[in-house]
Amino acid sequence: MKVPLVDLRATYLPIKDHLRDAFDAAFEKMGLFLGENVQAFEQAFTEYCRANHGLGCSSGTDAVTLAIKAFDFEPGSEIIVPAHTFFATIESVIHAGCTPVMVDIDSKTYCLDPDRVEVAITDKTVAIMPVHIYGHPADMDGFMRIANERRLKVIEDAAQAHGAKYKGRPCGSLADAAAFSFYFTKNLGAFGEAGFVTAATESTFERMKLYRHHGHASKFEHVLVGYNLRLDELQAAVLHAKLPGLDANNAKRREIAKRYDDAFAGLDVVTPFVADYAEPNYHCYVILTDRRDELVNHLTESGVGTGIHYKVPAHLQPAMRTVPHRAMPLEHTESVCNRCLTLPCYPELKDDQITHVIESIQRFFAS
Ligand SMILES: Cc1ncc(COP(=O)(O)O)c(C=O)c1O
Repeated sequence: MKVPLVDLRATYLPIKDHLRDAFDAAFEKMGLFLGENVQAFEQAFTEYCRANHGLGCSSGTDAVTLAIKAFDFEPGSEIIVPAHTFFATIESVIHAGCTPVMVDIDSKTYCLDPDRVEVAITDKTVAIMPVHIYGHPADMDGFMRIANERRLKVIEDAAQAHGAKYKGRPCGSLADAAAFSFYFTKNLGAFGEAGFVTAATESTFERMKLYRHHGHASKFEHVLVGYNLRLDELQAAVLHAKLPGLDANNAKRREIAKRYDDAFAGLDVVTPFVADYAEPNYHCYVILTDRRDELVNHLTESGVGTGIHYKVPAHLQPAMRTVPHRAMPLEHTESVCNRCLTLPCYPELKDDQITHVIESIQRFFAS
């Protein structure tokens, strides 16, 4: 039996006919520039996140960059980030002209640890940017308290956290700004590149809008040097078609995670922790094991796809050798990167596929 790590085609089939109609309508109108689909999706996803303001954009990487740019920080300002993240988090800080300061993660949630942030703050620090890694929310109250005391901004990298909740509130509505990715494999994924930013205040939102579209304040007036980071009309149609299914799909991911948790309870693996405050969306179901390479080989032979998110933390990436940054002690980050393994966990998994993953892992640890 084959159990791929992701199954993109399965996300297309249920909305196939709807998409044909939506694409036909878009092509008939040729309203391709921030058209009806973009506007409708922006409204729907902003409401879904219970955010004050929201704007579609061209990718998750661009969303993180846009969320930072919106605050017009001085060049060289420091932003506190985790090193256990997709590299785009770090790249976006640098593209926005700031310096990443990498701080360790909590050993249980694998998210940026608020208790380790304060020692990393200097007079150049302007923001804290936690990542809701694997779709488990970071402990936002801790960051908001520090930010209020020190007059810093908090930006959520919510690229993996569509529909995840912190104390009952959706990720994307918890800070000064937030950024989402709609990369194909995300819980809400486009069939091309797309992203989204949310903002707590009107003024932040207005800056995002300007940076997204060449600083255009009116037809012939560019009030700042911006970018072209617009959301594509067809991708907006895809996302709008998928959004109504997101909560049910996240619930299915939680059911699969529960089956895995129960089945792996007696084995020599660490299963995902869920903090009291959290309703995760299980973008990734990640176990920790000291026997990762062996287990990957065994699962590959059993037809089970796996992934590693992330094998090399950001501070150890070759790209960082020539880039200004600071790295605080990162022992939990390195420990997780050395042992983490992502298993298939998505709503389209069939019952016998889930059983096959479970039995394959049980067989490995029994041997
Ligand atoms: C935490 C995080 N931040 C940013 C991004 C960048 O998103 P995109 O691939 O849509 O540019 C990703 C994408 O995987 C991510 O996981």
